[in-house]
Amino acid sequence: MMEEQVVSMPRIGDKAPAFKAVTTQGEIDFPKQYEGSWVILFSHPADFTPVCTSEFMTFANMAEQFEELNCKLVGLSIDGLYSHIAWLRTIKDKIEYKGMKNIEVKFPLIEDISMDIATKYGMVMPGESNTQAVRAVFVIDPKGVIRTIIYYPLSLGRNFDELLRVVQALKAADEFKIATPADWRPGDDVIVPTAGSCGVAESRVSGQDSSIHCHDWFFCTKKLDKDQVLKAIKK
Ligand code: BEZ
Repeated sequence: MMEEQVVSMPRIGDKAPAFKAVTTQGEIDFPKQYEGSWVILFSHPADFTPVCTSEFMTFANMAEQFEELNCKLVGLSIDGLYSHIAWLRTIKDKIEYKGMKNIEVKFPLIEDISMDIATKYGMVMPGESNTQAVRAVFVIDPKGVIRTIIYYPLSLGRNFDELLRVVQALKAADEFKIATPADWRPGDDVIVPTAGSCGVAESRVSGQDSSIHCHDWFFCTKKLDKDQVLKAIKK
């Protein structure tokens, strides 16, 4: 009987696995050289493919918005450096898509022909492909801890507004010690930590604190000014 291969994947709360890699912006030492910044490490299946091209153009077009959040972008696929360079040149020189053109991808794109990094991060899912990484997203905080992991299959292009929202929400949660409800955007009400004692639960439902609104003792929200959030999560 064939022995099943055991593949480990990093989890939320783990330190991001370390690696050194060749990229389109030179060599990188990950996550060491990104200490102090947020990072989105993401994989795509292959260069010169349509969904990936639409994703790279969209991400590169939004790079400044991520930069404003002190969030660096790092891409990866199981392709070689020269393929990456040729593809990024083609995107810049020839591709026009949804009003975007002359798009220069300035963030590093890792070559991972050996699949070492993709394997380390659990980016290869044999049920989907043995030779291409799925569309994985790892959001890593300034201390090198993985804070969010999202996976998409090969056929499904990511929503980059959602990735921006994820970074905004993680930073707001850290900054204001709150949680963010479904579909939260800066300016929306936030969730205050759940009551940790019967006394606090009672004071919450009896409305003693007029700055919070309780739907029940365990579910209370408060206003958090949009400008205050945007200012706090910048840099
Ligand atoms: C794409 O990016 O278009 C793609 C890549 C691999 C499989 C399917 C689609």
